[in-house]
Amino acid sequence: MFGSRIAGMGHYVPDRVVKNDDLSQWMDTTDEWIVQRTGIRERRWVEGDVGAAELAEHASRQALEEAGLSPSDIDMILFATLSPDICFPGSGCLLQARLGIPGVPALDVRNQCSGFLYSLSVADQFIRTGAMKRILVVGAEVHSTGLDLSTRGRDVTVIFGDGAGAAILEQTEGESRILDTELHADGRYAEMLMAEAPASRLNPRLSVEMLEAGRQFPKMDGKAVFKQAVERLPEVIHSVLRRNGVALADVALLVPHQANLRINEMVARQLNFPFEKVYNNIQRYGNTTAASIPIALHEAAGEGRLKKGDYVLLAGFGSGFTWGASLVRW
Ligand code: ACO
Repeated sequence: MFGSRIAGMGHYVPDRVVKNDDLSQWMDTTDEWIVQRTGIRERRWVEGDVGAAELAEHASRQALEEAGLSPSDIDMILFATLSPDICFPGSGCLLQARLGIPGVPALDVRNQCSGFLYSLSVADQFIRTGAMKRILVVGAEVHSTGLDLSTRGRDVTVIFGDGAGAAILEQTEGESRILDTELHADGRYAEMLMAEAPASRLNPRLSVEMLEAGRQFPKMDGKAVFKQAVERLPEVIHSVLRRNGVALADVALLVPHQANLRINEMVARQLNFPFEKVYNNIQRYGNTTAASIPIALHEAAGEGRLKKGDYVLLAGFGSGFTWGASLVRW
């Protein structure tokens, strides 16, 4: 039975460090409030005109190098982002051009904080069927150019950071592989966490009035997101383990989406899972949405937190609402 294994990974964050105290120059917030509510101490933001595809290229080239491959070995690109470089075409096409591999299919995945898990699952299915041998899966976000830096936007703006994470999935018949990914969505909650404009359902899609009202900025009902996240994440983790006959006690590491350290602490508590076995780096990067899981997984592997044969759980929840969990045999 074919499966897919992670043959190499990469991640990239911009050089510019934005500390919590830096945010206080633009909005009414404090380091104390941000650390206490979210765990975030600093994040990386791009400087100048840098899009998601540029960050993704850095991460992808590193992943290719780690896998000992070159761009021409790639059969397909899956690009998860909520912050595409331009309205259309998707950033996958832009990344493909940057990597110099014309003709290779490129698919953008629009599933926000669950985008990497959705992409991983799609890639895994293509590889299991034998249709593709090697797929580049990348999550990349440039949030910083689309945030409200005034006090009006402080609840959302303090959370987000820019970055990219990439994985090369390669066909295998061995035991190290993606065992399963369980995915969910509930569109009834779509407007609880969204960036509304420009919008095809509005005519015009964007106006001066809309810009003045800040409708181009992300809006979030933080409490609703928090409440749903701490319910749905333990649920989907138990479910993916159950359907694969793996006990939670046998999981070496949980790599959750980095939305809020408090969410991850609460999820670990609800699962009765030791917090030392939960990998977190939100303190340094904030919420990088589709990039957060691959950045965290790559850092965890680089720190020697994973050894061959380990069970690793990836889990995420975010806008849509969308959520899911992957069980990986490292
Ligand atoms: N600095 C200082 N004060 C602030 C800030 C800030 N940055 N932001 C909000 N406040 C104030 C509010 O105005 C409010 O003041 P009030 O009591 O005078 O009205 C007070 O702090 C409490 O605000 P809440 O929004 O109720 O704060 P809460 O405890 O809910 O924390 C937070 C907010 C951190 C955003 C939390 O709700 C959260 O983490 N939610 C989940 C976020 C998440 O997971 N998002 C999903 C990922 S993003 C994606 O998918 C794209």
